Order: sequence, then C-alpha cells, then structure tokens
Amino acid sequence: MLRVAVCVSGGGTNLQAIIDAIASGKIENAQIVRVISNNKNAYALTRAQNAGIEGICVSPRDYENRELFNEALLKCLKETDPDLIVLAGFMVAVPACVINAFRGKIINIHPALIPSFCGKGYYGLHVHEKVLQRGAKVTGATVHFVDEDLDHGPILLQKAVDVKEGDTPQILQRRVMEEAEWILLPRAISLIARGRVTIDDNGLTHISDE
Ligand code: GRF
Repeated sequence: MLRVAVCVSGGGTNLQAIIDAIASGKIENAQIVRVISNNKNAYALTRAQNAGIEGICVSPRDYENRELFNEALLKCLKETDPDLIVLAGFMVAVPACVINAFRGKIINIHPALIPSFCGKGYYGLHVHEKVLQRGAKVTGATVHFVDEDLDHGPILLQKAVDVKEGDTPQILQRRVMEEAEWILLPRAISLIARGRVTIDDNGLTHISDE
C-alpha cells in the first residue's frame, strides 16, 4: 500500500480529486496518510477532515525563522513514513532538507505545460494570466518530480488544454483544472502505486506497460 502525504495551501480541488479517485478505485493500492497545509484556513483541510484524513497545519508564521519551519515541515512529513509526497496546490518553496530526505519521491502539479509558463512567479492564477497575455492557443498541466529548482524536475505526465476566445484567467484556470489537473494527478499516483514509473540517469521518466 503506497503511503501518500499531500501538501496543500488552498481550496484543495486537486486533493479532492485524489480522495475521490481512491474512493472510486481509480487509484488502487494507495492511501493518504496525512494532509499538511501551510495555511490554517485552507479549505483543503476541511476536505481532509470530511474524508476522515488527518490534516495538520504547519505554517511559517508559527516559527521564529524559516529554518525552524523547514525542520517542522520535515518532521511532520517523516512522522507518516510516506512513500510519496504530493504537492497539490502547495504554495511554499520545498526546503532542501525535505527534497534531500525524499529525493525522487515528491511530485507536483503545475498548471501549464512545462517548460512553458513555469518558474519564479508562475503559480495559481498568474500562470493563466501570462498564457492569455502571450496569446498561447494551447496550455495544460504537468505532473513532475520535484528537485531543488522550481518546476524543474523530471516530467511524468502532461495534458494539453485549448485556450478559447474570450477566456479570462479564471475561466482558463477552471478548464485546466477540470480537463487536466484533476485527471493527471490521480493518474500519476496510480502509476507510481503500481510500480510503473522509473527515472533514468538522464532525468527522464519512463512508464512501463501494464
Ligand atoms: C491550482 O491552480 C493548481 O494548479 C495549483 O494551485 C491551484 C489551486 O489548487 N498548483 P487546489 O484547488 O488547491 O488543488
């Protein structure tokens, strides 16, 4: 059974997609062992509670300095002995101590097709604002493994979504969530839970057949 810890910051729609996929059997052989939020008001914590999953807030505001927060986040993750850590709308830079402790075991959902529209400043609605400003006709979402650089680790899954005439950032964000994020993240967890994902020496992922 894959032990999954999910890190959140906001509404938790990606968390909900994972919860629902496990409940429906779309994800087999996995369980969410803890939800961790940096934001005590995150509705994602309510979603966890409603699903009977332990939710914990670890906020930088509660620590004298960043180092103490980083250590607390690492401790909170280690306690659950996770096989996989999922960043699902997590707006905190993952500290090096966490990446070192769980190298190759952390995935993130980014609301664009990496390497486009990613990196510093590209998060949440800002991503979709930039896509529309640039006039891109296709965008989408990416699930990738997390390393020290922002939105940089090995790409695991991607799915394209059309940009439509008259889209606002909010309309586009919703479409990317519905048509890509909420599909890709459960699929990525399912593949990892079934042992079908490897990363080669060149940092490229490979998905084996059933
Ligand atoms: C989504 O746009 C997601 O792509 C990004 O964070 C936003 C909120 O996600 N990573 P959620 O509703 O909290 O899952």
